[in-house]
Amino acid sequence: MFLLSACAILNAFSQDQSSLVLIPAPVSQKMMTGHFILPRSIVIEARNASSLEQSVQTLKTTLSRSTGYAVSVTSQASPTAAIHLVINSTPDPSLGTEGYFLTTTIKGVTIRANQPAGIFYGVQTFLQLLPKEIESTRPVKNISWMTPCVAITDYPRFSWRGLMLDVSRHFFTKQEVKAFIDQMVKYKFNLLHMHLTDDEGWRVEIKSLPRLTQVGAWSATRVGTFGTFPAPPANEVRDYGGFYTQEDIREIVKYARDRFVDILPEVDIPGHSLAAIASYPELSCTDGADQYKVRSGEKIMDWHKGGGFDALIDNTLCPANEKVYPFLDKVFTELADLFPFGYIHVGGDECAKNFWAKSDAVKQLMDKENLKTMEEVQSYFEKRVEKIVESKGKKVIGWDEILEGGHAPNAAVMSWRGVKGGIQAAKMGHSVVMSPTTFFYLDYMQGDAATEPPVYATLRLNKTYSYEPVPDSVDPKYIIGGQANLWTEQVYNTRHMQYMLWPRSLAVAEVLWSQKSKKDWNNFAARVEAAFPRMDVQQVKYSRAMFDAIISPKKDYNANDSIVVDLSTEVHGLDIYYSFDNSNPDNFYPKYTGTLNIPKDASWLKVITYRDGKPIGQQINVPVADLKRRAGLPDK
Ligand code: ACM
Repeated sequence: MFLLSACAILNAFSQDQSSLVLIPAPVSQKMMTGHFILPRSIVIEARNASSLEQSVQTLKTTLSRSTGYAVSVTSQASPTAAIHLVINSTPDPSLGTEGYFLTTTIKGVTIRANQPAGIFYGVQTFLQLLPKEIESTRPVKNISWMTPCVAITDYPRFSWRGLMLDVSRHFFTKQEVKAFIDQMVKYKFNLLHMHLTDDEGWRVEIKSLPRLTQVGAWSATRVGTFGTFPAPPANEVRDYGGFYTQEDIREIVKYARDRFVDILPEVDIPGHSLAAIASYPELSCTDGADQYKVRSGEKIMDWHKGGGFDALIDNTLCPANEKVYPFLDKVFTELADLFPFGYIHVGGDECAKNFWAKSDAVKQLMDKENLKTMEEVQSYFEKRVEKIVESKGKKVIGWDEILEGGHAPNAAVMSWRGVKGGIQAAKMGHSVVMSPTTFFYLDYMQGDAATEPPVYATLRLNKTYSYEPVPDSVDPKYIIGGQANLWTEQVYNTRHMQYMLWPRSLAVAEVLWSQKSKKDWNNFAARVEAAFPRMDVQQVKYSRAMFDAIISPKKDYNANDSIVVDLSTEVHGLDIYYSFDNSNPDNFYPKYTGTLNIPKDASWLKVITYRDGKPIGQQINVPVADLKRRAGLPDK
C-alpha cells in the first residue's frame, strides 16, 4: 500500500485510460500520475523461484537484450528490488488460477497471483506497458525505459483460449511451432490445437505404425493455388512435408507447458484420412491400394453448390473394417502417452459417405447394428473411437459433426459450422468450444478479395471482434471457451502464417480473455493500431486491412443490369477517395459521401483511404465486371 500511494500522492487516481494500450483489455486498470523507470541494474525478487522460472526468464531475456541493462534475480525478500513477483500465501479467490494483480509505482513493480500462470500473464502485461522497443532482440539506445504508474486487476473470462494451427496441409517445423507459442502467450492464449493429420500429411511419429510417417508425411512439391494442381505422376519424388518425432513432440509439449499452454492433438478421422490410407490402404472400405497417395493439392472432393459433397477418392477410414479399431488403439495409446492434456481431438468433420454407400461391408454393418443412415454409421464409429480414447484415460473432443446420427455420450464439441452445433451440444449437456467459421476462421481473407491471396470467404477484424461466444439460449457453464483456426492449404510459409493470424488473433484473445462489458470496437481498434509498431519491432507480419475501404456492390433496383456501390471502413474517422477513370485516386479526387452510381462505360473502380490528409489504407482496384459478379449479376 505504501508503494502504491507513492504514485497516488502525486495525483488522485485517474480513470483516463487513453494511454494504456493493453491487449487483451484487463478487468480493471487505474492509471496514476508518475512513471516507473527501469533502473540500470534491475533486480527481480522471485521468492518461489522454481515455480516462477519462466516468468523470470521472460523478464530477464526481454529486459536485458533490449535495454542492455544488467538483470539479476534474488529469491530473498528484497524491498529494493525493481520487480517483485509474489505468489499469494493466501489465495485471492477473485484472481482464480490465471489472474494477477499488477502495480507499477515510482518505486517498483509488483505482480501478485495465486498461481505461476497468473504471474506469467502479469509479466506479459508489464512488458506491454513498456516502450515497444522492449521487444527488440538487440540493445536500443536513447529510449526512456518506463511505464506509467498503474494498478491492474485481471483474470480471464474463459478457461479455453485457443488457436489451432494446421500443420498437415503445410508442415511447420518444431522451431516454427515454438515461435507460434511465443506469440500466442503475449496475448494470454493458453491452448494450441495441432491439426496433426489430414489428407495432405500425417505429422506425428507413431512408433508401432512406422508407415504413417515414412509414407504418410510426404507429398510432391507444388507451388501455386492449392486444390487446382494435376495429380502427380506415380514416379514423382515425394519429398515435401515432414513430421515431428516423438522427441520433437515431447520438446514442443514441454516448451508449451513451461509457458502455460496446453497442446490439444488432433487426429482427423474418419474423413480427411488419405495420408493414413496411403500408408495402410487396408484401412479403407474401397479396394485399390495403388490409387492412394498423400494429397499434393489435387482435387479430391466434389463440393456441391447447395451444400453437400462427395469424395473423388475414398479418403475415409472404414467403420465396417475391424482392422481400423486396433489401428486406432495403437495411435491413441501413443498419443495419450505423448500429450498430457486431458482431451484428444478426433476430428469427425466433412466425412464423405459416397464410398461407404457403395461398400458391402458397410451394408452388412448397417444390417447388423440396425443403422439407418450414413450419419448413424459415422456415429457408430465415433462411439467406438470414444471408448478407445477413454480407455487411454483421455476425454474426446471433436468437430460438431460427431453429434450427427446420435452423439458420442461424453464428448466435448468444437462448433465450427456456425454456432448451431455448439448450441445443440450445450443443450444436450456437452462441453463446447466455440470456433465458428463466421467469426473465428483465420484462413479467411481479412480484406478485399482484390488485395488478398484468394480464399473463399472474407472475415474482417471487426467481425471477429464482435463475436460473443455464449449464445443467449444456453447455460454459460457449458461454453468452456473458444478458439480460432488457421487452416493452411493456402499458407505456404511462416510470414504468411503470421499475416493471417494478426491482428485477428488479437480480437480472438480479447473476446476470450476480457470481460464482455469491456467490448468497445473503437477503443480496441486504437489499441490494435498501437500494437502494430510493436509487432514491427518483433518482426512479426500482420495485415493492415482494417484501414482499407470496404467495397459493397449491390444490384440497382432502379435499373436493369446495373449496380451501385457503397463504400465504408471498419475504422472510424477515415476518408475514402475514388476514381472510375482508371487513374490512381488521392485526396484531391472525389471523396465518398454516399452510394455511387457507376458511369456507364467505366471499367475500374479504384479506392483509397486517408486519415487527416495522409494515406492510411492500401489502394484497391476492382474491375467493374467483378463488382457486377459480386453483386450477383449474371456474367455476360
Ligand atoms: C473444418 O473446418 N473442416 C473443421
